[in-house]
This record gives sequence, structure tokens and C-alpha cells, in this order.
Amino acid sequence: MSNVFSGGIKKYSGKSMALAHERVFRMGAGVKEFDIVAGLLVQTLEELSVPSDIVHDITVVVLPLRQVFSDGYDMAHAKLDEMPSST
Ligand code: HEM
Repeated sequence: MSNVFSGGIKKYSGKSMALAHERVFRMGAGVKEFDIVAGLLVQTLEELSVPSDIVHDITVVVLPLRQVFSDGYDMAHAKLDEMPSST
């Protein structure tokens, strides 16, 4: 967690979020799935009684990633949409 949210002991230096989720986008996940996962994350933090200012700080980092899921899904499926319809 601390790696992902970048304020921890070790800064996350892996793949970009877009690259890490390439397969996920191709399988059909997008903003709908992101909202479910992000919602569960916040719910879990609250259930664990994480102070609300910290939950807020995490939300500020996570929410911009929604756009990555939106763009990633669109890009992964653009080629299919461009194909001429058979009807
Ligand atoms: C809250 C937003 C999310 C964060 C911060 C996050 C973070 C990450 C990270 C750090 C990785 C590992 C990247 C690496 O290999 O270095 C990863 C991989 C993965 N994530 Fe997420 N993720 C998020 C949302 C989601 C959602 C919405 C899904 C699907 C519904 C998902 C499914 C996966 C899968 C399947 C992998 C492994 C991909 C592969 O091995 O090809 N993640 N995620």
C-alpha cells in the first residue's frame, strides 16, 4: 500500500498504471470496475477505523487513476469499434 500511495518507505517504481492494467482493459474492465474497487478500498479503510484525514489523502491519490481506466478501456477497444460493421 505504502508503495502504491507513494508516501511510504519505498516509492513505487514499477510499471505505469496504464501498462500494469493493459490486460485488464483488454478483458473489458473500465471505470465501472474501477469505481467498485475504489469504493471497496474506502469502505475497508473506514472499517479498519483509519482516520478520515488519511482516507481523504488516499482518495486524492487514487481518484485521478479513474481517468487511466477510462482512457485504457477506450484505447483497448478502439480497434474493435473502428472495424466495419457486417450489417
Ligand atoms: C484503486 C485503483 C487501483 C490501483 C492503485 C491498482 C494498483 C495495481 C498495481 C500497483 C499493480 C501491479 C503492477 C506491477 O506489476 O508492477 C496492479 C496490477 C493488477 N491490477 Fe490493479 N489497481 C487498481 C485497480 C484495479 C482494478 C479496478 C482492477 C480490475 C477490476 C485491477 C486488476 C489488476 C490486475 C488483474 C493486475 C495484474 C495485471 C497483470 O498481471 O497483467 N486493478 N494493480
